[in-house]
Amino acid sequence: MTTNSGSNDIFIDRLPKAELHLHLEGSLEPEMTFRIAERNRLPLPYSNAESLRSAYDFSNLQDFLDLYYQGAGVLQTEEDFFDLTQAYFARIHLDCVRHAEVFFDPQTHTERGLPFRIAIEGILAGMKAAELAYGITSHLIMCFLRHMDEEAAFKTLKLAEPWLDKIIGVGLDSSEVGHPPEKFARVFRACQERGLRKVAHAGEEGPPSYVSQALDILGVDRIDHGNRSMEDSKLVTRLSRSSITLTVCPLSNLKLRVIGDMQNHPIGRMLEKGLRATVNSDDPAYFGGYINANYKAIANAGVVDRKGLLTLARNSFLGSFLSDEMVLTHLDAIDAYECACEK
Ligand code: HPA
Ligand code: ZN
Repeated sequence: MTTNSGSNDIFIDRLPKAELHLHLEGSLEPEMTFRIAERNRLPLPYSNAESLRSAYDFSNLQDFLDLYYQGAGVLQTEEDFFDLTQAYFARIHLDCVRHAEVFFDPQTHTERGLPFRIAIEGILAGMKAAELAYGITSHLIMCFLRHMDEEAAFKTLKLAEPWLDKIIGVGLDSSEVGHPPEKFARVFRACQERGLRKVAHAGEEGPPSYVSQALDILGVDRIDHGNRSMEDSKLVTRLSRSSITLTVCPLSNLKLRVIGDMQNHPIGRMLEKGLRATVNSDDPAYFGGYINANYKAIANAGVVDRKGLLTLARNSFLGSFLSDEMVLTHLDAIDAYECACEK
């Protein structure tokens, strides 16, 4: 097989992979926004899906978050959350995703008066239906909004109590700069005591010290994004030695101007330094592509080669919260795929 962009695309299309950084609310496509708004008799400040999509031009994370929270406002019923979840899994089935660990932001919904159970019950039903329909396994991660205070995160943890056996872990997202991980030290400790896994967005716009804080103070298992870790060589060595997974999101980075152009995306350098980087879509409805589009963006920009693509797919299972046995099964499938492609 040659390695021009067309054959890279086919190679990526059929490569088994996991997705570890996906905000379900960020998979709300404009067409679905309109469908759900109509069903719920809600007015929208756009005339159609195309005009909403054309508003997706961001200068930074906050620009995006403003529209993301506005969009999530159409979600009102369990059925809405079910449809959203179902549509995401139907789409990633086409991208050869075998397992997904997905985020939701309960405070985005409880803050506007929706009961906690509406979002989570709709999402869990969608995840179950997707496993039946496509064989894609999944875990749910509940994120705390970091622009809110720690007390609000504690209240959310309390609301989640009846569902804690259905949530694999907690995360930290929303506006990063000015809201360091240390702000959530106590609530993350409470989550650890409840046996939850922990992840946090860090080093997307915030400095490398936020990545260190997420590791040292929150005790996270993974770092979401982590791009700015590359500015601190001691941190890079630490991440590499401890095999901490970074859930990197190339198209998100481009859209939110975390990078200037794809040719300079750090993911190739991350792999060279031995970091356990993975590829993810973050908020695909807003950033112009699902997971395979993200793999293709870095491959076609010359940032990673075929060997790098295989490493990234292997890392996606190694960094997951799947059992060791399931990880090995998925790694075997990648080995078999590699062999078949070499023939
Ligand atoms: N960063 C921070 N918060 C978010 C993101 C992101 O990329 N997407 C949804 N919430
Ligand atoms: Zn994210």
